[in-house]
Amino acid sequence: KRKKTLSLAATLSALALVLAGCSSGGGAGGTTLRLALNQTKEHPSFVALDNFGNRLSKATSGRWDIEVYPNETLGAQQEAIQLVSDGTVDMAIVSGTQLANLNKDFRVFNLPQVFDSIEHQMNVVNNPDIVGDLYSSLEDQNLTVLGGFTQGARSLYTSKGPITKPADLAGMKIRVQESDIHTKMIELMGGSATPMAYGEVYTALQSGVLDGAENNEVSYVSQKHHEVAKHYSYTNHLIGVDYLIMNTDRLAEMSAEDRAAFDREWQVAIQEHTELWKTATEEAIAEAKADGAQFHEVNTEAFSKALQPLIDESLTTDTARRLYEAAQSAAP
Ligand code: GCU
Repeated sequence: KRKKTLSLAATLSALALVLAGCSSGGGAGGTTLRLALNQTKEHPSFVALDNFGNRLSKATSGRWDIEVYPNETLGAQQEAIQLVSDGTVDMAIVSGTQLANLNKDFRVFNLPQVFDSIEHQMNVVNNPDIVGDLYSSLEDQNLTVLGGFTQGARSLYTSKGPITKPADLAGMKIRVQESDIHTKMIELMGGSATPMAYGEVYTALQSGVLDGAENNEVSYVSQKHHEVAKHYSYTNHLIGVDYLIMNTDRLAEMSAEDRAAFDREWQVAIQEHTELWKTATEEAIAEAKADGAQFHEVNTEAFSKALQPLIDESLTTDTARRLYEAAQSAAP
């Protein structure tokens, strides 16, 4: 009943393996792309990416394959970005918050109330007409953004009790992703924010360093947070997005034909992920309840009101305003 925590030694040995130059090792002369993920092997992101790799390998007759490293084996998201940028790792899944740290315009797709539903979100973040140049904006850092998976709707959970109004969060230490806007978000919602990498949250909740965190139900249960923070309150404050990023130089090595196969199979992966997400969410809720966690309905109005300044202060550039308006008008 504890979360698998990777020892530093395990992380280092995984890195050593990578650095030792099985890089682009692949079988039979092909290239195996290493992809850093912070989720478990059961998580929809792992499943969809693993299947993506298998289809890519088939479609390119083994010239390209993907190996997904789960559980932060290659590093937590902040390190993963660095490793993809310098080419040590080829690809990673990173939260929108991480890219917003590099280019503020990424904030727009990670704001409260911007998407009505997961379908709405997927139609926006994977629509080239809407995203425009945003996804190539980090190529000076050798990072290409390929599109996104949903993180589902995020809500608050604590070890202390239900959170039904901002005042309930007073004095509570809530984990956030390493992100200024999420820090601000929790403060506006009434709590006190502690930025921390995903893989460290379980232990911090268990030891009482944290009173709570915020995430979707799938992470709540796959990270076993539900065992130590039993009250999940449906604040539904935002629908988060996870981006697939890739080293730009590496991507440029693909022939046009292989790149087309890559793009096609990635779109299939997004669809598969979105479908898996629904079932995974239902299963997570059932598992949490069976383990004694409680889900609380929340009147979200007070939180929405409290969060309005976050939206206002994020829409300060022309690009941000354009993206926001395009996202809103794509609502079904
Ligand atoms: C979700 C999301 C991850 C993110 C995590 C977090 O699980 O899919 O990309 O890292 O939340 O809160 O850190």
